[in-house]
Amino acid sequence: MIIVTGGAGFIGSNFIRQWLAEKNEPVLNLDKLTYAGNLASLADLATHPQYHFQRGDIGDRTMIAKLLTATQPRAIVNFAAESHVDRSIHGAAEFIDTNIVGTFNLLEEVRAYFSDLSEEKKSAFRFLHVSTDEVYGSLDAVAPAFTETHRYEPNSPYSASKAASDHLVRAAHHTHKLPVLTTNCSNNYGPYHFPEKLIPLMILNALNGKPMPVYGDGKNVRDWLYVTDHCAAISTVLARGRVGEVYNVGGKNERTNMQVVNTICALLDEMKPRADNKSYTSQIAFVKDRPGHDQRYAIDATKLETELGWRATETFDSGIRKTVAWYLANGAWVQSVVSGEYRQWVETQYKNTGASL
Ligand code: NAD
Ligand code: TYD
Repeated sequence: MIIVTGGAGFIGSNFIRQWLAEKNEPVLNLDKLTYAGNLASLADLATHPQYHFQRGDIGDRTMIAKLLTATQPRAIVNFAAESHVDRSIHGAAEFIDTNIVGTFNLLEEVRAYFSDLSEEKKSAFRFLHVSTDEVYGSLDAVAPAFTETHRYEPNSPYSASKAASDHLVRAAHHTHKLPVLTTNCSNNYGPYHFPEKLIPLMILNALNGKPMPVYGDGKNVRDWLYVTDHCAAISTVLARGRVGEVYNVGGKNERTNMQVVNTICALLDEMKPRADNKSYTSQIAFVKDRPGHDQRYAIDATKLETELGWRATETFDSGIRKTVAWYLANGAWVQSVVSGEYRQWVETQYKNTGASL
């Protein structure tokens, strides 16, 4: 079997769904169930015979050691992390605990487990670390997209903590010969995305008649990848990636935030027109910028494409249409994840902007 950490989050839950649909191999989801982890995102898989769940923290070494001994996985895919830049600006302690110390503790126990495997099992074993393009810092408008050799220049507490985890993973390979793989992906979007992030927040604020809060001038650029394309890339790297290598993942879909928000408004105008027939664009509100806001991210995925044959299958137009349709059809999921903690966060983050839910 494989162990997936953070499988109750946005990308992990999509990964497990895709894995069980395509592969005949059990998966154990180890997740702490923070505010961002929702078993509702896996409700359709709860009784799948090859799906298993254990609640726990990647930093809990005793539990990790027992779990590895009991389940004898042939791979670990590490999604577990604190993932929201704005939260890391309000307070970074949990980012340090999970993204750095948690990853370190997980690596230590995986190393101990790995060292006792037979030579045959050792050669098949992989530790795949899921990371982000944000570790490379920010690009100006004309700079070439990030390649795997771009220097690390993390700018937010979130990206700094992910950068540290990437370095620990690299060191576990270089020094201790743990067979690791690292993927650095651009911004994901799609079903089961927690509504603190740009795309689901905008869809839900629009539908709830609330202001749609655009930070600064809305000209920051992100390179958007539909989540199932990211999951397919992770499976590809896990199966065929060269041990110790880093693979960038991205779909060449650079958009300014205003382009993204206007596209969402146009789709909602078509699929769920407002009662007064005004466009949803009338709800767009420019609010105070994020401190240290990275201007532009863009990924060069040539290595993954040429070496391993991965290609993104969704364009931004096809993926965003599917995403808006999914949120329109899945109000029950939204209700189940929008807890008291979530409402408190929105209140803190958007107070004085007139943009709170
Ligand atoms: P998410 O915040 O939606 O989910 C994170 C999951 O990890 C949650 O289920 C949470 O309960 C779990 N978790 C947190 N701390 C834990 C701990 N100590 N032990 C066990 N589980 C814990 O995040 P996501 O958007 O699905 O991102 C998953 C991974 O992909 C992260 O490592 C993130 O850095 C990376 N990534 C995300 C994006 C993106 O656009 N969302 C892009 C590139 C890379
Ligand atoms: P986000 O989804 O938080 O991802 P990241 O910061 O990791 O790229 O934000 C995407 C972009 O959208 C980023 O430039 C910040 C911007 N943004 C807003 O303009 N308003 C919002 O309410 C949020 C959450 C993000």
